[in-house]
Amino acid sequence: MAREKLINPFKPTAGAEPPVLVGRDKVLGDFSDGIAEGVGAPGRLIRITGPRGSGKTVLLTELGDIARESGWEVIDETASKGFCSRIAEAAAGERLVPGLEVDVHLGVLDVRSKGSSRESAPSLRAALTERADALGRQHRGLLITLDEVQDASPSEMRELATAVQHLIRERIDVAFAFAGLTTGVLDLINGEALTFLRRALPEELAAIPVDEVACALRQSIEKSGLAITDAALAEAAQKTVGYAYLIQLIGYHVWRAGRAHVDDTPVIDEEDVSRGIEQAMGRFHDAVHESAVSDLPLRAMEYLLAMTEDEGVSATAAVADRLGLPATSLTSYRRLLVQRQIIEPTARGFVAFSIPYTREYLMQNRESLLARYGR
Ligand SMILES: Nc1ncnc2c1ncn2[C@@H]1O[C@H](COP(=O)(O)OP(=O)(O)OP(=O)(O)O)[C@@H](O)[C@H]1O
Ligand SMILES: [Mg+2]
Repeated sequence: MAREKLINPFKPTAGAEPPVLVGRDKVLGDFSDGIAEGVGAPGRLIRITGPRGSGKTVLLTELGDIARESGWEVIDETASKGFCSRIAEAAAGERLVPGLEVDVHLGVLDVRSKGSSRESAPSLRAALTERADALGRQHRGLLITLDEVQDASPSEMRELATAVQHLIRERIDVAFAFAGLTTGVLDLINGEALTFLRRALPEELAAIPVDEVACALRQSIEKSGLAITDAALAEAAQKTVGYAYLIQLIGYHVWRAGRAHVDDTPVIDEEDVSRGIEQAMGRFHDAVHESAVSDLPLRAMEYLLAMTEDEGVSATAAVADRLGLPATSLTSYRRLLVQRQIIEPTARGFVAFSIPYTREYLMQNRESLLARYGR
C-alpha cells in the first residue's frame, strides 16, 4: 500500500476513542443489561475508578453511546465547581449564557438581555424530574455521566445523589455513571453521607489482560494495512502491562516504526517494536512521570526514591527507616503523594506507585532529580 495512504490508527490522547476498546466487555454488558432490565437494575448505577490514563473518560463516553443507541438522552458533565447547576440547566434544555445579545434590524440597534426568559436557575431535582418525565412519555430514559469525581464538592455530590435516588424511587428510567481517581472517589463516597453512591456497581480499571491487548493491537495494525510478527506482537503487548494509555502510546510508535519501511515490507518486526517502545517510553516519562513529580518538596521526592528499593509494594515503616526519620514525620508527604496520585495505599501501612514504570523512571533519573534540590 502507498505509504501516504496509511493512517496510524492509535490514539494516545486523553479522552480519545481508541481503535479497539480493550477489556471492557463486562462493564459494557452490565450497563446494557441495566438499561434493558428497567428501574432498579444494578447496571444503572456505576462507579468507575482508576489511575490517570486508565480509560475512565473513554468508558463513560462508551456508556453514553450505548444509552443513546437505546434512545436515551445523555447529560455528560465534569465534577468541577457548579456541576449541579450545569446539569440542571442541561436538563432544562437550555443554557443560560450571561451577557447581552445584539441584533441589528434595519439599522436599529436592538439590545436585549440574553437568558432573561427564566428568572432563576432551576433546582436540580425539579429539572431532572421534569426532563425524565418528559422523556418517559416517549419511553426514553436519561443517563447522567460525571467525570473527575475526585474533584467534586461533597455537598454538590450529595445534591446530585439525592436527586438521582429520588428519581429511582419514583420509578423513573434514569442511570448514573460516575468516574474518577480511585482514592479521591473512595474518600468522597465513604467520607460523607453518600451511602446511596456506595452501593454503585464498582468498576476498578485495573490492568487489562495482556492477551486481550495483543489481540487488539494485531486487529488495529492489520486493519490499517500493516502486519506484525508473533514475537513482535507479544513483546509490544507485554510492555503495555495492560495500561490503557500505554496501549495507545506503544501502538502508535511501533506502528510508526513499521510504516517507515513499508516500501520494503509492511511487516512490523521485533526491531521496530524495540524502537517504538523506546520512543513511547520517552514520551510516557515526559508526559506522565515528569509532570507528576515536578515541583514536589524534597522530602516527598526522597520518599519516592526510597520506595524504588522495593519491587512491588513498600511498607511505609521501611521507607521511614531508609530515610532515617520517624514515620509520623512523613505522614504529610505521603498524603501529598497520594493526593497527587503518584502513589496509593494498598493496605494499611503499605503503598505502591499508581502508574506503571514510575519506579523505572525514578531509578533512571535519580541523580538529575536530586540535583534539582542541590543534592
Ligand atoms: N479500553 C481501552 N482500550 C484501549 N485503549 C484505551 C481504552 N480506554 C482508554 N484507552 C486509551 O487510553 C488513553 C487514556 O484514556 P482516558 O482519557 O479515557 O483515561 P482517563 O482514565 O480518563 O485518564 P485521566 O485520569 O487522565 O482523565 C487514551 O489514549 C485512550 O484512547
Ligand atoms: Mg479522564
